[in-house]
Amino acid sequence: MKHLLNKTAVVTGGTRGIGRAISLELAECGANVYALYARSRKNAEMIEKEAEDRGLNIRTIRGDLTHEDSYNEVLGQLQEACGHIDVLVHSAASGVHRKAMELSDRQLKWTFEINFFAVHRLTRDLVGKMGKGGRIIGITSPGGTRVIPDYAAVGSTKGAMEALFRHYAFELASQGIAVNLVCPGLVMTEALNFLPQVRNLLDQTLQYTPTQKLTIPDQVAAIVLFLTTEAGSQIIGQNIIIDGGKSLLA
Ligand SMILES: NC(=O)c1ccc[n+]([C@@H]2O[C@H](COP(=O)([O-])OP(=O)(O)OC[C@H]3O[C@@H](n4cnc5c(N)ncnc54)[C@H](OP(=O)(O)O)[C@@H]3O)[C@@H](O)[C@H]2O)c1
Repeated sequence: MKHLLNKTAVVTGGTRGIGRAISLELAECGANVYALYARSRKNAEMIEKEAEDRGLNIRTIRGDLTHEDSYNEVLGQLQEACGHIDVLVHSAASGVHRKAMELSDRQLKWTFEINFFAVHRLTRDLVGKMGKGGRIIGITSPGGTRVIPDYAAVGSTKGAMEALFRHYAFELASQGIAVNLVCPGLVMTEALNFLPQVRNLLDQTLQYTPTQKLTIPDQVAAIVLFLTTEAGSQIIGQNIIIDGGKSLLA
């Protein structure tokens, strides 16, 4: 049974990495998916082609969500295309990787622009198209609550996002909109190419992960999909960790 048939989903960062897997998973369950991205047309074309081959309904929309004009253009396209939005997933993220004491105001502000302010702006501007049965899901990171070396900027944005989502969850539950977070452990995506000492991080993660496996994008997508089911309507304001048990360890 395709429970998302005739439903509309918007996935930011929906053409690459974890967001790509989420776009495909939601579309596989019948949703009309709008996959947002910033720059890479190649990834957008690839997911559109894959969707066409598999008979799925995925449209991509390009635009830097931190840039006012391009944000407004993306919003305009979504407002025109979507009469109603059932699922909004925030997977887009970026950021500067430096030690905390090396971060300039500009770098920190830039990281907050995409990982925090764009999330809030888009949620606020689209929530009017959502209603009973709606789902808002944010993808956060273990760095929102704990230290990952050189992750001070992104980690701070994720911590702030988690606090913001608790308020969303509280405020929107009475409208029938369930708001939650999904927190994967380390996932091999292109994002890791920008993280210094990624080899060490990978080795350490595997060493301290009880399952001895990294999380993969499809597993994150499966949790997001579960949150869109009827059972998900009673899960409110939670942060679901999917990390092979790594966060169990002191
Ligand atoms: N990978 C991990 O280990 C891991 C672990 C925990 C949590 N997470 C979280 O999971 C989410 C997805 O991570 P990922 O590794 O899949 O990321 P990724 O491969 O780097 O993909 C990031 C996506 O965000 C889009 N994006 C970046 N800047 C943007 C902007 N200014 N405006 C609009 N879109 C923008 C990118 O578009 P373009 O492709 O066009 O640049 C891309 O589609 C993120 O929120 C991340 O923090 C990741």
